[in-house]
Formats: sequence, structure tokens, C-alpha cells
Amino acid sequence: MKALRVRKEIAEEVRRKVERLGLKDRSRRIRFEDGYVIIPVVDGFDLEIEGAEVVEDANPVFRERRNFREIVESIAGHYPRYADLKLFGRVGVMKLPGELMGYRDRIAEEVVRHYGLKALWLDRGRHGMLRKPEMEPLFGDESMVEHRENGCVFRFDLTKVMYSQGNQYEKMRVARLVGDGEVVLDMFAGIGYFTIPVAKHSRARRVYAVEINPDSYFFLLENVRLNGVRNVVPILGDSMHVIPESFADRVIMGHIYAEQFLQNAISALRDEGWVHYHEAVPVRVLERPVERVRRAAERMGARVIEIGMRKVKNYAPNVLHVVVDARIKRLSK
Ligand SMILES: C[S@@+](CC[C@H](N)C(=O)[O-])C[C@H]1O[C@@H](n2cnc3c(N)ncnc32)[C@H](O)[C@@H]1O
Repeated sequence: MKALRVRKEIAEEVRRKVERLGLKDRSRRIRFEDGYVIIPVVDGFDLEIEGAEVVEDANPVFRERRNFREIVESIAGHYPRYADLKLFGRVGVMKLPGELMGYRDRIAEEVVRHYGLKALWLDRGRHGMLRKPEMEPLFGDESMVEHRENGCVFRFDLTKVMYSQGNQYEKMRVARLVGDGEVVLDMFAGIGYFTIPVAKHSRARRVYAVEINPDSYFFLLENVRLNGVRNVVPILGDSMHVIPESFADRVIMGHIYAEQFLQNAISALRDEGWVHYHEAVPVRVLERPVERVRRAAERMGARVIEIGMRKVKNYAPNVLHVVVDARIKRLSK
């Protein structure tokens, strides 16, 4: 992002000039730095103005932002549900439902300009059990990002692994449920979405974090290091095959298509413990996740002592992402 660095005495005159020529970048504020005035100008600014030096604006201060909704409405005339923009610093990820695809380039151009982005990606969804993201570059190619939430930091390459900001509350909720000295198993650890907040904000004795995708595992290791947590045991492997029996007090199943792993989760419990089972469920069969947990427990000869379900977020039209909390007692081993 460019700016003009000018002496105070001529700043007002220069400001008027770039404003008149339509070359001032209105998304950033004019500011003072080391006795000079810094006037933001649009990228591609190529005028020579006496007494003004073109510099890189290293510490931009943005004006009150129009939000993404206003940008979309101003271009498409309406704002459908499931349109979304996430910002990781100056890298953006945009989701557009089919009806907005015709406006894609105009929306992208305005979003990049308005937020001063280095890169903007179009999120085309996630695929398969590994939930690999399909990202289309709309502007730039920067894809390594660092995201902070709940006092944790996550570093990842957004073209290689998925990240879901919508589950932020759920991650802290589970972390708060963990009792002192518990052994926790995170069956689908990803880059540490649950593992890191649990390790950081609870007094778990150990958090076993299993992840099958080497790309995610790489960032899991990185995030364990970045967050300075010492009670995590990362495991590169398939939760269907690498999980021993009878060692955990709590199992987190943070994958929305993981019904077939329920029996592994239950058998990982010591004689009694909690399973947090996630599922994407159409609203017309809302009781399905609870039934699935009950059925899996029954097949294992285990008893459900307590069970409840809560919504994590809207997933798609008429489909919810929910989590079932089940306290289960294993009767036979
Ligand atoms: C949906 S992501 C985790 C999302 C997370 N719950 C959140 O809130 O953002 C699921 C992770 O499970 C991993 N995974 C899929 N199948 C697996 C398996 N059989 N064993 C271990 N990990 C698996 C994927 O690679 C992915 O990193």
C-alpha cells in the first residue's frame, strides 16, 4: 500500500491535489510519522509531486470499515445467507453462494481495495473425510496465515488445511468442561482446533491428538510449539486403527461425518467418561445424532448415563452442525 510522505508545511496543498485527482486512498487515514505527514494514495500512483516522496505505508490506519454485507449489497443489490468473508490479517477468504457468482470479480475487487488485502481466496468448500479445502485464488497468492482466538494462536496454510472460525465458542466450552487431571483424546485433531485450547485452558493431564493428514499434522506440531503447551501427544495416524482401549476420560469427535468412529471412541473410554460427538444433521431428522450415539453404546454393551445435544452453528440451508455430549459407562471391556 502506497502513501505520500510530505512535510507539514505543504501537506494540505498535496492532500487537496491528490484528492482532486481521485488518487487518495479513502480507506486509510492520514497520519503523522517522525515529523512528516503520511497521505495514503491508491496503488499504481505514479505522479511526481514536488516535496512528496512515495513510500510503502507500513503502519496503515484504516477508516471505520464498511462491512462485507454493505459491500455485497452495494454491488449485488442484496445479501444472501451463507455469503461470508473471513480476514486473517491481510489475507481474506470469501464464500459466495451460487447466486452471487456473477458478481464475484466486482465483489473481489472492492473487498481487496477496501480492506487493503495482500491476497483473497474463494472458498469452494471442503472435500472428503480429510475435509481438504478447495481454494481458488482471486487476488495474490499468500496463503500462510496466523489466527488468534481464545488466547491461542494457530498457524496454517489455508489452501492445505481447513479452519472453521464458527466453532470458536464450542472449543472453549469443551475446554471448560475438562476436569483436573483428565486424559483427553481428540480423534480428529486437525491443526489443533480443540487440542490447543483444551491443553491451554484446562488442567488435563494429557491430550492425545490424532490426525491422519500429514499437512495438518505438520501444523499441529507447529501450533503445539507456538502455544507452548507441554501436555499434548500428537499422533500421525488413522483414528480407526491407532486408538488403544480404556485410557481416556473424554473423547472429542470434532468431525461432522464420523458416525463410524463412535465405537472406537467409546472403547477408548476408561470405565466411564464423556464423548463429544459432532454431526451435520438436516433439521427434519434432528434426533438422529442422539440415536446414533445411543445405538453405538448399545452395540458396545455400554450404558448412556447422560445425554444432551446443542447447536454449534448453521451448516447449510436446513442443516445444522450439532454436538452431542454423552456420558457413557462401559459395562464390559
Ligand atoms: C473437520 S476437521 C476438524 C475441524 C474442527 N472440528 C473445527 O472445529 O474446526 C477434521 C480433521 O480430521 C482429520 N481426519 C479425518 N479422518 C481421520 C481419521 N480417520 N483419523 C484421524 N484424523 C482424521 C482430517 O484430516 C481433518 O484435519
